[in-house]
Amino acid sequence: MSDSSGSVKPDSKSKPKTRRDFLILASGAMGGIGAASFVLPFIDSMNPAADTLAAANIDVDLSPIEVGQAITVMWRGKPLFIRHRTPEEIKLSQEVTENDLLDPESDKDRVKKPEWLIVVGVCTHLGCVPSGQRPSDNKGSYGGWFCPCHGSEYDISGRVRRGPAPTNLPVPPYYFLDETTIRVGQQEA
Ligand code: FES
Repeated sequence: MSDSSGSVKPDSKSKPKTRRDFLILASGAMGGIGAASFVLPFIDSMNPAADTLAAANIDVDLSPIEVGQAITVMWRGKPLFIRHRTPEEIKLSQEVTENDLLDPESDKDRVKKPEWLIVVGVCTHLGCVPSGQRPSDNKGSYGGWFCPCHGSEYDISGRVRRGPAPTNLPVPPYYFLDETTIRVGQQEA
């Protein structure tokens, strides 16, 4: 759901009853670039349409997400998993050695801040949406996500640890606009 500034914020009416409950934030949020282009006095037909730009970038306010909680937002038609990792989860993710990984990638190369993991929630095998966002979901043997289609398991860094998925859950381009707001869809200029 977006406010007038274009930021995505959890909907207070659908706020979870438990800390770790699952929130689905509205899709199609206006991104900063889309909002800015709205006030231009003319339209350059060579530029992408405003709604295309809006879909390309979204701003997400992370401040309501408590430690241990995960939320899902829609970005470019795909679910984006955002997880506020606990100190224990961060430690576990950082301790994994590359020999244990099917698609070796260090945790620090997959996050901008250790407490925030942001990945595209689409299994890299055949595109199912893994479970693991709800507190009661099957998170697989590694505490991250479990794909119900063919059993791939991902760890708390979104790295594939078991099953037919060939690669880790992708980390989208994003950067922090401030301490608790991210812009997804582009890297920092
Ligand atoms: S689609 Fe996820 S394991 Fe096949």
